[in-house]
Amino acid sequence: MIIEPRMRGFICLTAHPAGAEQNVKNQIEYVKSKGAIDGAKKVLVIGASTGFGLASRISSAFGSDAATIGVFFEKPPVAGKTASPGWYNSAAFEKEAHKAGLYAKSINGDAFSNEVKRETLDLIKADLGQVDLIIYSLASPVRTNPNTGVTHRSVLKPIGSTFTNKTVDFHTGKVSEVSIEPCSGDDIENTIAVMGGEDWAMWIDALKAENLLAPGATTVAYSYIGPSVTEAVYRKGTIGRAKDHLEATAFEISDSLADINGKAYVSVNKALVTQASSAIPVIPLYISLLYKIMKAEGVHEGCIEQIQRLYQQRLFTGGEVPVDEKGRIRIDDWEMREDIQAQVAQLWEQATTENLAEIGDLEGYRKDFYNLFGFDVAGVDYKAEADEMVQVESIA
Ligand SMILES: NC(=O)c1ccc[n+]([C@@H]2O[C@H](COP(=O)([O-])OP(=O)(O)OC[C@H]3O[C@@H](n4cnc5c(N)ncnc54)[C@H](O)[C@@H]3O)[C@@H](O)[C@H]2O)c1
Repeated sequence: MIIEPRMRGFICLTAHPAGAEQNVKNQIEYVKSKGAIDGAKKVLVIGASTGFGLASRISSAFGSDAATIGVFFEKPPVAGKTASPGWYNSAAFEKEAHKAGLYAKSINGDAFSNEVKRETLDLIKADLGQVDLIIYSLASPVRTNPNTGVTHRSVLKPIGSTFTNKTVDFHTGKVSEVSIEPCSGDDIENTIAVMGGEDWAMWIDALKAENLLAPGATTVAYSYIGPSVTEAVYRKGTIGRAKDHLEATAFEISDSLADINGKAYVSVNKALVTQASSAIPVIPLYISLLYKIMKAEGVHEGCIEQIQRLYQQRLFTGGEVPVDEKGRIRIDDWEMREDIQAQVAQLWEQATTENLAEIGDLEGYRKDFYNLFGFDVAGVDYKAEADEMVQVESIA
């Protein structure tokens, strides 16, 4: 079928398999161009199909020749209806990994559930024996706690008072003011239950209990801080509380891994266009201004550049892993550079519907957004017939 983007609000309902494949190949080429990384060899990536998780799986496989197991929650295709992008990404990843002689298997299901954890533990036991790196990169709006059966929904809201600021509809380029009501009731607890560290700790406990963690195993989860303009809705909002919890959990996990000399880290990453971030008000305007400045300064990075740098210059240097005063790895260092933030703050004041295309990188934002779904990728013929029924080799 001929596959075209079909937008509804902040999501695209279709995805292009050939575009996804090209995206994955481009990421693989990037990692290879940066040389070998003396990193982990048996890697579990939870949230492996898009964004930072996919970049982690690619960096491990094609930077360190690692065997990878990827867990994700994606929609497979049905005849006449495309899969979700992460499905096609994973299909392309496995195809390339297998071609390169690398072990790669995937599990599609709810990572929060006991069933998917069980399936993953069994697969590790059968095929890899143990893992030495676990990347935790889930971004989800909802989690059912398998112990209580309670379903929690996260919210992206300020705490205490209404937050009013500028935002942009990146489809139309219209800059407007948005007001977000403060959270109420159990919003904070629910957001922590979904995006905090509880499930991460459950994964590591389960792996450890069955002796599936290699001596010196490392686990990394991803966090975000960001600038003062987004603080009320991000770092000081409900999602920020969940990130505080995630960061605190790293210390608890590290304690629990002391006897095997293991360690848990949180890496603070840069703001990037992903399915998760485009749904947060205010963030798209910030990102479009940030992209403009970082590109002009020659320090712009996407997910793959970020994770390749995390591996090569932070995690696997052979020396101490550098961390900030709160024990976090920082690869948002270029985003948070004072000169960059000062320029973004100045542009923020000026931004209007009329000037945003010029002072911000709205085009770059849009392109990245379309790219997430495999559209607008250079070298892909979108007029050609595409096979929507592409399968993930290890799942088919
Ligand atoms: N995008 C950013 O700007 C940014 C910046 C810093 C940190 N982060 C963090 O990075 C992490 C990953 O975010 P992302 O932006 O790459 O998101 P993403 O939406 O691209 O990826 C989310 C992944 O989680 C998987 N997933 C979601 N729910 C699942 C479930 N129930 N079971 C199994 N898999 C499930 C998806 O299949 C996908 O692989 C998050 O913790 C996020 O907060 C994001």
